[in-house]
Amino acid sequence: MAEKFYITTPIYYPSDKLHIGHTYCTVAADAMARYKRLTGCDVMFLTGTDEHGQKIENKAREAGKTPKEFLDGIVCGEKGVLDLWKLMNISNDRFIRTTDDYHVAAIQRIFKKMYEKGDIYKGAYKGKYCTPCESFWTESQLVDGKCPDCGREVHDAEEEAYFFRLSKYADRVQHLLEDTDFLQPRSRVNEMVNNFIKPGLEDLCVSRTSFSWGIPVDFDPGHVVYVWVDALFNYTTALGFMNDTYHDYDKYWPADVHFVGKEIVRFHSIIWPAMLMSMEMPLPKHVYGHGWLVIDGGKMSKSKGNVVDPYALAEMFGVDALRFFLLRTFPFGTDGNFSNELLINTINIDLANKLGNLVSRTTGMVEKYFGGTLPTEREDDKLDCDLKTLACTLRDRYEAEMEKFQFQNALEEIFKVIDRANKYIDETTPWALGKDETKRVRLATVLYNLLETVRICTTLLLPFMPDTCGKIFDKIGACDGCRTWEKANVWGSLRSDATVQKGENLFPRVDSEAALATLEAMHEAQKKAALPAIALEPYVEEKVDFDTFMKCDLRAVKIKDCKAVKKSDKLLQFTLDDGSGTDRTILSGIHHWYEPEDLIGKTAIAILNLPPRKMMGIESCGMLISAVHTEKGEEKLKLMLIDDSVPAGAKLC
Ligand code: MSP
Repeated sequence: MAEKFYITTPIYYPSDKLHIGHTYCTVAADAMARYKRLTGCDVMFLTGTDEHGQKIENKAREAGKTPKEFLDGIVCGEKGVLDLWKLMNISNDRFIRTTDDYHVAAIQRIFKKMYEKGDIYKGAYKGKYCTPCESFWTESQLVDGKCPDCGREVHDAEEEAYFFRLSKYADRVQHLLEDTDFLQPRSRVNEMVNNFIKPGLEDLCVSRTSFSWGIPVDFDPGHVVYVWVDALFNYTTALGFMNDTYHDYDKYWPADVHFVGKEIVRFHSIIWPAMLMSMEMPLPKHVYGHGWLVIDGGKMSKSKGNVVDPYALAEMFGVDALRFFLLRTFPFGTDGNFSNELLINTINIDLANKLGNLVSRTTGMVEKYFGGTLPTEREDDKLDCDLKTLACTLRDRYEAEMEKFQFQNALEEIFKVIDRANKYIDETTPWALGKDETKRVRLATVLYNLLETVRICTTLLLPFMPDTCGKIFDKIGACDGCRTWEKANVWGSLRSDATVQKGENLFPRVDSEAALATLEAMHEAQKKAALPAIALEPYVEEKVDFDTFMKCDLRAVKIKDCKAVKKSDKLLQFTLDDGSGTDRTILSGIHHWYEPEDLIGKTAIAILNLPPRKMMGIESCGMLISAVHTEKGEEKLKLMLIDDSVPAGAKLC
């Protein structure tokens, strides 16, 4: 019977559109799931959405929708979560929404079971609460008085609540972390033990009464289950634990690995095993805490306007190129600095120059010299053995890295072979062999060796670029039987009478300058969209006494003439009737917003008793009054124009 493999991603919080950071983890889990299927495992790959909590309730209210309507749009709507996973070719076997009825009922049963066992009890909670993270914190856990996860303000909160006896499981969890390989990479263990377990694990507040968008505690109305208890058990309810919708729990539980981002390692490596211990359920084999994709060293966030949109990148560069880039460029366990330059370089160097070239040169020469089908005779030499040995032993090196979730290293191993094959072309000079009729057998040997190397590399690249690999297999005429894991370390699997076709270029080189300019323009538009709709000038706190204010001589003025001041981009020169019988000149820096001819004849407001001031050699006697504000980062100005029936010189008071 095939070995089972159960892998999960975190279930996503659909309060906003997902970005490249979320895509990163899901693509990694997908590559792992595809790899395990390739090796013959019976895989269950789960992802989904975590749909309860105050933040969702608030967001839905802001959008004028019910929470469920809001969620349906963002999960199932256009360019929602499901659309993104479809686009990214994610091969999940199941998708859970924590609002699914079977999950809700199962969570109520689980909560009750822990309550009846005495591991959940009723108390009163006082603490610091971070609304965006849905997390209560103790004073000592705060960083500079703020939420240690997101750095935002926390507030005092107190409510009657249920508690989970986390403290009871502290020793067992510490042992699990320190003495087993449960939590990976190993570097995350110290952080958990030193920051959370050693200072003393307090019991965990697991119900809320301050909002209602959650799973009700069915034996105590008014309480809803803490969103993390609801969320973590998804990994088991989606298999059918405590429900009848699915029947896969016995087959797939415990999970072989949960992939999670580093900030939620605490929930997965402390709270999750403790709750499973309470439920007397087997523990997952591994939790892998991966790093973040960061921008300029910092987290992506909508408010910074630096969120990278996977749709835009996939459209510009292709889904497989994006999948490949994410796993080839960054080590999975640590943070990776995302940049468009890096993405374009990876595509141009690894995919266009190395892999793309190898495939097109090889298939092109089989077409050119043998009409797409090689003769069967072969003739080996030392160079061939080097390449063959390297290619045939690749699977073992690749497997060792994949088993440790080291995608970058696994890809590096493949590219060593691709580099070797490109070098083999330069060494064997098939174009020279092609000119000499007596070297036909040697030429066929060289090309066959290249085709075999491409076949092996393509098999191992399948988890990363499923569509592209299918195309490469078709180009080299690989039959189904030689696209397999079993044949990935067996030389000579490709039939020699296979039909080879060069076909279209797999990875056209990206015009770096043009692509960067397009991405930069998109980024600017996004930054602008993230700016506040309206920003006002700061209010002046200092008071002006009434008598001083009354000294300002504000009057209605008629604009008799208006023209641009020579050599100035900004200044307009106004000739004004201020009612005194003598024309008044005022300069105003408003040319950016008005053409002079549009203002002639209008009635404006001016302050007249300012000391005269010379600008560009012209004396300005007073100031016209305008209203200013900033809209989406752009300064806006409106000259204060008033009813034309107001006579020139009328005093404003
Ligand atoms: N709902 C919880 C998970 C519950 S699992 C029982 C949650 N959701 S989330 O949508 O906020 O985040 C989901 C995952 O995306 C987390 O693992 C998080 O680390 C990951 N990422 C979010 N931004 C990221 C990057 N910039 N880079 C890499 N991963 C990041 O947490």
